[in-house]
Amino acid sequence: MQNEDVRLAEAQANPYTMPMLKGLDGWLEDGSEEARLALRLDAARLPRHVAVIMDGNGRWARERGLPRVEGHRAGAKSVREIVEASAHLGLEVLSLFAFSTENWKRPAREVQMLMRLLEDYLRKEDRLLMDNDFRLRVLGNKEKLPASLRRELERVELLTRGNSRMTIGLALNYGGRAEIVEATRRILAEGRLKSGDVDESVFSRYLDTAGLPDPDLLIRTSGETRISNFMLWQIAYAEIWITPTYWPDFRKKHLIQALVDFQGRQRRFGETDAGSSS
Ligand code: FPP
Repeated sequence: MQNEDVRLAEAQANPYTMPMLKGLDGWLEDGSEEARLALRLDAARLPRHVAVIMDGNGRWARERGLPRVEGHRAGAKSVREIVEASAHLGLEVLSLFAFSTENWKRPAREVQMLMRLLEDYLRKEDRLLMDNDFRLRVLGNKEKLPASLRRELERVELLTRGNSRMTIGLALNYGGRAEIVEATRRILAEGRLKSGDVDESVFSRYLDTAGLPDPDLLIRTSGETRISNFMLWQIAYAEIWITPTYWPDFRKKHLIQALVDFQGRQRRFGETDAGSSS
């Protein structure tokens, strides 16, 4: 079977994808901007994995004369909307960059508030995750996180580990370089593999994203054109979509727009458009 046929067969087999794109399932208001956009989507060519660098919370707050933490609070509301929208759209994985290995350099009070916000979010949203068959996977090193947040993350990861509709990859204390170094350490510490045994597919099994497909689409909000150490290994062939919209203003219509743009791109994976290797 050709790749496209495989994708179509998978989309048809997915009980969540086709109903949404056929009838919009009552989720999107008839005639709304997002409903019109969604009608342009091809269910057979949706990305499996969308990764998001959520940026602009601080600027959103500053422009309103609010403390930065209010930007993060508003950002958490966008998280809720985008998680739900991603599931309705039939994505398999949504990864969110919530806290980087570099974010510890922020003022201690902001870090503390962010950690508390994340903990509250997990406490409140565990029902939503279970009711919707969502799985939580934490990407990044949990060791340095406050103990209460770590416990909460581990609780929700365990609670949701049998869920299969959509995986939410929450990147916390995450850095792409640190993840690659950590994967190398795991291979060495295990002591089982010889150098000739290690190829790309074996190596990727030691990354935090083991078992997940690589992102097909990387979204960054707030107009910055950097990767900021996010999923350096996994985004090798991802399409990149950047919007000037700040994360707290990011709505499902933006996500759908990103998917429409994604479907208009020609992905080559190193080949020419004729399909032969270049
Ligand atoms: C970047 O904006 C945002 C973050 C570092 C934190 C992301 C956190 C959230 C969206 C809140 C909660 C998350 C979840 C998963 C519930 P910035 O502060 O760097 O903005 P700036 O560049 O405008 O200063």
